[in-house]
Amino acid sequence: MKGVILAGGLGTRLLPMTRVTNKHLLPVYDRPMICYPIQQLVTSGIEDILVVTGGDSAGDFLKLLGNGEAFGLKSLSYAYQDGEGGIAQALSLARDFSAGEPLVVLLGDNIFQDSISEAIELYSQGGGAMILLKEVDDPERFGVAVLESGRLVEIVEKPETPPSRFAVTGCYFFDFRVFEIIDGLEPSSRGELEITDVNNRYIEWGEMRHHVLNGWWTDAGTIESLFRASELVGEDRDNPVLNGISMGPADWSRHASE
Ligand code: DAU
Repeated sequence: MKGVILAGGLGTRLLPMTRVTNKHLLPVYDRPMICYPIQQLVTSGIEDILVVTGGDSAGDFLKLLGNGEAFGLKSLSYAYQDGEGGIAQALSLARDFSAGEPLVVLLGDNIFQDSISEAIELYSQGGGAMILLKEVDDPERFGVAVLESGRLVEIVEKPETPPSRFAVTGCYFFDFRVFEIIDGLEPSSRGELEITDVNNRYIEWGEMRHHVLNGWWTDAGTIESLFRASELVGEDRDNPVLNGISMGPADWSRHASE
């Protein structure tokens, strides 16, 4: 399985910081936000990662992460998304990278306390698609699962009246058909190709599974959640998923001790 991290978009909810840099390069506790999805995939055993980014600071990702060798990756590639056409449009740039293999997709502003390795294992036993859900107090901020007797029947994007408290987190598992689905999507009312439309197609096909997370999960895409993310990470320093066992290129630690 290959990994894709989506780190494009304009980050308008984090202005004025995002006027001068990409949202995913902003600090969460002691390292740039993009490090968390990288660490999550590396510690889950994913060896080939594509980072999709955009905007004026795209070159800074290369400066920070290099070719991925320092943290044991076989390959770390980059793709550039022009503008902000939506999460599904950003994912469409991973078509050649995937080369028909299944993908685990992480949103670059999502941080998970627990390793997703168990979910990778679960997904590998079936096919189609799989999403990770988390019970939250503010589901209206997210895609929300409609569950009937425990069965996932639909996802509603940012509903005013949430049908449940189960938010759809930014970790998705897809087979190669995801690209056929994206090809057929129409932009939503906010002018974006929506990942929720992709997920609903798999649900219609009867090929979507879901898994409920135990550990905490947060996005870091608003001022409040960015602040909260730093607090959560800071409270969990010994967690390798957050503290990157082999994350840092050698010269990071050298610079730190100078
Ligand atoms: O955080 C989970 C939520 O993420 C899900 O519950 C929602 O269903 C999903 O639509 C998404 O909602 P947001 O409105 O929070 O997404 P946002 O626009 O903040 O984008 C999340 C990440 O996706 C962002 O950090 C980078 C990437 N992205 C987003 C857009 C719009 C791109 O790479 N390109 C894009 O054009």
